[in-house]
Amino acid sequence: MKTDLLKFKSICCQEWPHVTANEPHILPIYNTSAFVFDNIQQGIKIFEGKEEGFSYSRYDNPTLATTAQKLAALESIDLEENAHCVLCGSGMGAISTLFYSVLQQGDTILTQADLYGGTTELIQNNLSRFGIKCIVVDFNDSEQVQKILQEETIKLIYIETPSNPLLNCVDIQAVASIAKKHNIVTAIDNTFASCYLQRPLNDGIDYVIYSTTKFLNGMGNALGGAIISLDYDKYKAAWNVMKLNGTYCSPTDAWYLYNGLKTFPLRMDAHCKNALELAEYLEGHSMVKRVNYPGIASHSAHEIAKKQMSAFGAMLSFEIKGNLDQALSFMNNLQLASLAPTLGNVDTILLHPATSSHLKVPKELREKVGITDGLIRVSVGIESVDDLIKDFDQAISKALA
Ligand SMILES: Cc1ncc(COP(=O)(O)O)c(C=O)c1O
Repeated sequence: MKTDLLKFKSICCQEWPHVTANEPHILPIYNTSAFVFDNIQQGIKIFEGKEEGFSYSRYDNPTLATTAQKLAALESIDLEENAHCVLCGSGMGAISTLFYSVLQQGDTILTQADLYGGTTELIQNNLSRFGIKCIVVDFNDSEQVQKILQEETIKLIYIETPSNPLLNCVDIQAVASIAKKHNIVTAIDNTFASCYLQRPLNDGIDYVIYSTTKFLNGMGNALGGAIISLDYDKYKAAWNVMKLNGTYCSPTDAWYLYNGLKTFPLRMDAHCKNALELAEYLEGHSMVKRVNYPGIASHSAHEIAKKQMSAFGAMLSFEIKGNLDQALSFMNNLQLASLAPTLGNVDTILLHPATSSHLKVPKELREKVGITDGLIRVSVGIESVDDLIKDFDQAISKALA
């Protein structure tokens, strides 16, 4: 650029020639809404898909593409074929993008009662407005599942395992196999286990969904979601919906996710170890009524979890022997753990599902599946487990004094 010919105002508003040399060590955040074309012919070829390249960040962006490819590689690490990943701005963005790309008016989803509250609300309040029907089933009751599949035409089976906040598990292999027989598309929300502990693509599930906001990021500094599939056409259909519905992920949020992945296995090992110790401590406490953790033999999901998870994750929930006020008082008395409506961070976080994640789920429905007023969900962090147990111990004593 002949800068000596430019006026002051032109220099100010021009994109200045980028000074670049060798590659940066860490992936940069490409905070740009668009990409320039060398010439208009190149722009046409990129839009037509005849040349590799970026055009507009709602479509794709180098920070997003690099992060998506890393996630896809992790999800399909045991397989010969590489998976494909669409990154979205949040877990709900990924779930709604999946629904839009798979379902049409008149279709029916078969799912479980104990989904993440936001997903249940999305299906009941939004999808129903577009003529999409939903049937709820206990996937571990194979007779009930068979009966429904004989009577109904199901388009999509959508599961979440372990589920939020009861940590129930669904047999992934069994679901994938019956779905294949009936030519039904399958999707799983794998947020709680993550691909470090459980890889549903190996069992033949079509789509794996994440709230990457949680364990994949691990630091709680960015929202994000992902849709991962081995099938290129399924991926492309989801990408097209993401592009048109604008459910893309910001490059900054993708960058935080990308960097969080570097410590992901180390964090997960520490999470799982602490969660098992805390669950065993709670189970042995005389003032604890019930502990939901797939890693303890008393939990109904233990056998399925052992079969399909390499460890039991960081999530647990429990009820203390007390009323609602005492459960809330226990939470207020904690000094180390935080109270926040999220999970999967390196620090321990508690939530009261009935008044937060499941607030919009009718009381009758949530209580039927075990989400009582006294249920407390814990995302176990990677602190010293002795400190955690000490904190829980003093908070239970104070609440029940
Ligand atoms: C299991 C599960 N799936 C999906 C979501 C939604 O994710 P996001 O908050 O990133 O939209 C959540 C949120 O907590 C969740 O726990």
